[in-house]
Amino acid sequence: MQIVHTIADLRAALAGRGRPAFVPTMGNLHEGHLSLVRLARRHGEVSVASIFVNRLQFLPHEDFDSYPRTFAADCAKLEAEGCDIVFAPGEKDLYPEPQTFKVQPDPQLADILEGHFRPGFFTGVCTVVMKLFQAVFATSGGGAAVFGQKDYQQLMVIRRMVQQFALPIDIIAASTARAGSGLALSSRNSYLSDDQRVQAMALSQALQTLAQAARRGGNLAELEAQAMAGLRAKGWEPDYLTVRQRSDLLAPADATQGELVALGAARLGSTRLIDNLEF
Ligand code: PAJ
Repeated sequence: MQIVHTIADLRAALAGRGRPAFVPTMGNLHEGHLSLVRLARRHGEVSVASIFVNRLQFLPHEDFDSYPRTFAADCAKLEAEGCDIVFAPGEKDLYPEPQTFKVQPDPQLADILEGHFRPGFFTGVCTVVMKLFQAVFATSGGGAAVFGQKDYQQLMVIRRMVQQFALPIDIIAASTARAGSGLALSSRNSYLSDDQRVQAMALSQALQTLAQAARRGGNLAELEAQAMAGLRAKGWEPDYLTVRQRSDLLAPADATQGELVALGAARLGSTRLIDNLEF
């Protein structure tokens, strides 16, 4: 496994090696990330994982400084999965000057849900992903990139960006890896105490309950409010628990049918967790 830090070294490492399959991450890798790497290896001739905690997608009060950085352990895990290249740029490698040109995603998709509660988040994500895509795919002229369904809205935003800019990149979706309790694996789970880790399964359970209730019918806004009240009673501070159409993340006219997804974001203590469930 090769570890490179600059875009120039990455391009040199990729030259002549065929179509890359790429997994962008912010590190602190867990089984969810590794499942993406395994999927990537089936979709390209050379697998690349990036590790970069992207300042642009954090708000000033968020956890950029405390975000877990575990580079040596991450590399050991990637090597064990047979990853070919790790791209781990320093901040000056990716942003040698302030990144004043940005990718502005469609506000209809990016200013709701996560984008509503984390303004500018998807601009930061799209900007870094576009830049990483240029770094990884410029030499091959295209390839595949794998994103997790755990970050449902992010996956949709990236798909739209790729489609609208006609990028020659296949976006592959990976299903959410979960602990036995149902808790979606996340780097931020490392902030949870043992007690909180047990409590944290309540988020996926609340989404299941909400999805089932929505299918049975009834006023969706009321069901969503009940679901949020239920989490609040367990000590959480929910941002949203909601049922949306899978196609555009807008509210469905009738939740008893169609391809829907329940999405939620909530804070347990100071840790903000997100999850979703298609139904
Ligand atoms: P990060 O949170 O590190 O996640 C990297 C990738 O792993 C994302 O595609 C995410 O959806 C996926 N992932 C995380 N937890 C998962 C789980 N439990 N099961 C399956 N996949 C999971 O998402 C980001 O980083 C950043 O926004 C990034 C795209 C790298 C841009 O900075």
